[in-house]
Amino acid sequence: MVMNGKILIVDDEASQTELLSGFLGKKDFLVTTTNDPTEALGLIRSREFDLMIADFRMPKMNGLELIKAVREIDPAVAIVMISAYGSIETAVEVIKAGANDYMTKPIDLKELLILIDRNIDKKRLLVENQQLKDILQSRFRFDNIIGNSSALAEVMSMVQRVANSNATVLIRGESGTGKELVAKALHFASSRKEQPFIKVNCAALPETLLESELFGHIKGSFTGAISDRKGKFEEANKGTLFLDEIGDISLTTQTKLLRVLQEREFERVGSNQTLKVDVRILAATNRNLEEAVEAKLMREDLFYRLSVVPLYIPPLRNRRGDIMPLVEYFLEKYAKENHRTIQGITQEAQSVLVKYDYPGNIRELENIIERAIVIAREDVISIKDLPLTVTNQHKEAPVDGPALELMTLEAAERRLIELALKKHKGVQTRAAKELGISERALRYKIKGKEIKPE
Ligand SMILES: Nc1ncnc2c1ncn2[C@@H]1O[C@H](COP(=O)(O)OP(=O)(O)OP(=O)(O)O)[C@@H](O)[C@H]1O
Ligand SMILES: [Mg+2]
Repeated sequence: MVMNGKILIVDDEASQTELLSGFLGKKDFLVTTTNDPTEALGLIRSREFDLMIADFRMPKMNGLELIKAVREIDPAVAIVMISAYGSIETAVEVIKAGANDYMTKPIDLKELLILIDRNIDKKRLLVENQQLKDILQSRFRFDNIIGNSSALAEVMSMVQRVANSNATVLIRGESGTGKELVAKALHFASSRKEQPFIKVNCAALPETLLESELFGHIKGSFTGAISDRKGKFEEANKGTLFLDEIGDISLTTQTKLLRVLQEREFERVGSNQTLKVDVRILAATNRNLEEAVEAKLMREDLFYRLSVVPLYIPPLRNRRGDIMPLVEYFLEKYAKENHRTIQGITQEAQSVLVKYDYPGNIRELENIIERAIVIAREDVISIKDLPLTVTNQHKEAPVDGPALELMTLEAAERRLIELALKKHKGVQTRAAKELGISERALRYKIKGKEIKPE
């Protein structure tokens, strides 16, 4: 099975969402439903949809409000409004507010399909045009990457060195460290910069849909495949394909991917015509792929193919020199966005920010600053504008025992290893003894986790 498009259905009546999602699901659309328009906005913010079908009359939010709110978040998603109270006036209003189409109840399902198909095609064209504009403006040059630390300088110098080769680069690092930003920088520093940069989030789709997304499909290869569809490999031809969350793909898809990496050729789903592409591959993950290989969740040959050039972006807590430059950068950015004049940030708040560990890395820091700007009463950011998790950190993390807050096992292991190394001033024999493992096991773990003993 392959996918025709990602659709969000919003209707306060569950019977209506069920009916439509049942029908469209059978036509091989990936359907998400909600009965709450506020939740719909959250979904649009966090995922990419090709099209939204929404009821005009809902108790919490009327159709026009919903359209405007969605447009602010995603200018490209196609919007189809449905109403039982169809009149020419509403239709005009709805289109003026930013919807693409309008249908009245009772819904003629055949007509709906045609309408969906047409609007999804249009939306894809729009997105391609936007990508073209982004390229023209070269939005992702190095001057978007802020930092002062030697660790970041090392990463960027590596980016510069490998940009012009065609080598596959595997970008690793914890969540929020800037993997996607670095992937874009790599593309825009390469000779492919005028060509497309296409991203695929491998974790977002189930196996079969991911294959259609990557390799495309042909008309008639399954029920409801109304037209041929290019996959991302074809879209990225001559340019760069960024495979995000590569640690999450199934073994079957891994096998197919391996073939493209080796031969640069593949077939669309349902077709036996072999296609050739010239694509530079970048991949990213926050997982420990060595462990995945050991657990037989990742093919070893694929792992080696991907990591021809491994690029590791250290967590923010290991490059604290970047914290203040980032704080200043985000202060300026969000002050402007929120139309506020901010004179600066108190010494005390600075020292708290520099000491904090940022489990969510730069993304977390960015959120902290945005929030501070929004809630600050004065024009200087002070400690009371920072979240408690930040201001309380030093109280919650005693050095002689790990804090019992919830975190992933991997994070907990890393934290314990870091603590042990710190306590024993980097002497691994002693740290290993304290942790109750062999020195060899410790060395392996340090390597696998890319922990840098201070
Ligand atoms: N050095 C930097 N300078 C400016 N902004 C940065 C920097 N590093 C990261 N950011 C910003 O932080 C946010 C997170 O970065 P990005 O999405 O690239 O991280 P990621 O490693 O891909 O995260 P995830 O693993 O969660 O997908 C983005 O808004 C990005 O623009
Ligand atoms: Mg990312």
